[in-house]
Amino acid sequence: MKFRSFVWVIVAVNALFALETFVLPKVDDALKKQGKEIYDRDCYACHRWTRPFAGPAMSENIEKYRERPEALVAYLKNPTPQNPSKYPPMTIDPLTESEAKVLSAWFFFLINNTSDPDRPK
Ligand code: HEC
Repeated sequence: MKFRSFVWVIVAVNALFALETFVLPKVDDALKKQGKEIYDRDCYACHRWTRPFAGPAMSENIEKYRERPEALVAYLKNPTPQNPSKYPPMTIDPLTESEAKVLSAWFFFLINNTSDPDRPK
């Protein structure tokens, strides 16, 4: 391949990636199970679903991001102080992109399906 055609291939591939929009994974039984595992392992120590605990109630946290799922994923990958007058900053091992997306997809499913029996406490 000539160098110039090679450059065009790179440009085209980059353009395709730029078009890619933000999507959360589809919620199925496997995703719910994975979400619950991550939650029990990494979140339950400080959060309860419907009431404040060490951190604010998780259902309210998710409502806050309802229109901005991308921002929730970003926060979970890199938590920054949000409400310093009320809470200390959230100190957790940052989640991977994949874990953050799985959890976020499950959370949005849960706030839209409030009677789901697998909702965390
Ligand atoms: C060590 C305790 C602790 C753990 C573990 C923890 N959190 Fe938090 N979380 C907090 C605190 C404290 C805040 C409030 C932080 C702030 O206002 O800056 C918070 C806030 C949040 C918020 C709201 C952020 C905002 O924009 O107001 C979300 C969402 C959240 N946590 C999700 C999670 C998830 C998901 C997990 C598990 C992966 C988790 N947290 C684990 C303590 C914790």
